[in-house]
Amino acid sequence: MRRIDDDTSASQNQARSGSDQLPCAGKGPVLATAGPPHVAIIMDGNGRWASARKLPRLAGHRRGVDSVRAIVEACPDLGIEYLTLYAFSTENWKRPMTEVSGLMHLFRIYLQRESAQLNREGVRVRFIGDPMPLPPDIQRMMRSLEETTRHNVRLTVSIAINYGGRAEMVNATRRLAAKVAAGEMSPVDIDENALRRELFTEGLPDPDLIIRTSGEQRLSNFLLWQAAYSELVFAPELWPDFDREAFARSLARYDGRNRRYGAVAG
Ligand code: IPE
Ligand code: IPE
Ligand code: MG
Repeated sequence: MRRIDDDTSASQNQARSGSDQLPCAGKGPVLATAGPPHVAIIMDGNGRWASARKLPRLAGHRRGVDSVRAIVEACPDLGIEYLTLYAFSTENWKRPMTEVSGLMHLFRIYLQRESAQLNREGVRVRFIGDPMPLPPDIQRMMRSLEETTRHNVRLTVSIAINYGGRAEMVNATRRLAAKVAAGEMSPVDIDENALRRELFTEGLPDPDLIIRTSGEQRLSNFLLWQAAYSELVFAPELWPDFDREAFARSLARYDGRNRRYGAVAG
């Protein structure tokens, strides 16, 4: 499996051959294409989905969990090895307390209900972000799921909870500074790889594709370091409406991209 330290040169990630068949939609067997190895998704639009139906925002978040299930299930068929999902940002604490506690409760239910199934499906789950402000029982469930799924290799799902790209870089800088202060390393040893190793995403390749649903066109503090050469696709669907077909359409848009990494197109 590709690791973060592997070569990420243009030749490796060049646009895929035009003869690739597009991922098939629907529930039936899906052709395993050479999908982008790492897809990250900013799951946005739950609130608007609910408002459009005159439902409370939490109803949108609840429906969003169904989309998570569908997209996780679709990944192995689509040749995706890593899926990273933005579930709760460091800024989302600014939302009304009822929404925040409702979201925490949904995480709790998701972890209780889906853990066994994720494990059966060969999914390795990891969490990125600072877990400390989260309710202690959720932290315990997160650790336990990471532990029980650690040997799974079919798909790695990283769930970003209390994640912020800026906080991640501050945290990494602090850790490097502590090592320098302890005499374990010298300032000249701090290079891109040294910093990368201190990020929450340590061991994950950078995302090839970042999809944001709901039509918004911004990163909202997601994977700021790792997104340096990611392709961006802004999907019009609200997250609760984002199904296999919508996923396949976003992947097809990525398919037409020519990734150059600053070099001259080959
Ligand atoms: C994304 O949906 C889910 C989280 C941020 C937790 P939103 O809740 O942001 O939905 P909108 O953007 O208000 O529609
Ligand atoms: C980004 O969505 C965070 C998640 C999807 C978890 P937001 O809805 O919080 O982002 P903004 O506020 O529209 O930028
Ligand atoms: Mg939003």
